[in-house]
Amino acid sequence: MALFVSHQAQAESAAVLLKQYELQAKQESAAFVGFAADKGERFFHAERLHSDGKKVSCATCHTADPRNSGKTRANKVIDAMAVSVNPQRLSDAAKVEKWFGRNCKDVLERPCTAQEKGDFMAYLLSVK
Ligand code: HEC
Repeated sequence: MALFVSHQAQAESAAVLLKQYELQAKQESAAFVGFAADKGERFFHAERLHSDGKKVSCATCHTADPRNSGKTRANKVIDAMAVSVNPQRLSDAAKVEKWFGRNCKDVLERPCTAQEKGDFMAYLLSVK
């Protein structure tokens, strides 16, 4: 029962966060039509040439498969990102925002758009 409740709460907070990103995305672009897991998947894997001269993507730390655990540059283990494997993921809006902030700056050298964040969440929620 406790497990059921916590899964329920987890799914709810992800849904609340997605709703917020949806409102922001509509403000960012009148052409917004929704979030798509396949776009989130491409975003996750997209390699970008950082101004430090190194190629980087979200998968650099989180690995190419979000069901696997990843590693920081300092070799600390990062738990799996897929919600199916790690139900804690996307359950804490403040944590999600904090890490989008850090990691988008790290990889893209700019903040992620609400569209990118929502697509990425849709991807992590969709991975079985
Ligand atoms: C330099 C390594 C690194 C890169 C590159 C990286 N991340 Fe992360 N990410 C981390 C670490 C470390 C954490 C926090 C540890 C944890 O939650 O297990 C984290 C956590 C997150 C979280 C928090 C999820 C949650 O609910 O717990 C999100 C969202 C996230 N990353 C998105 C991204 C995205 C999007 C990209 C690509 C734009 C990206 N990350 C690239 C290291 C990285």
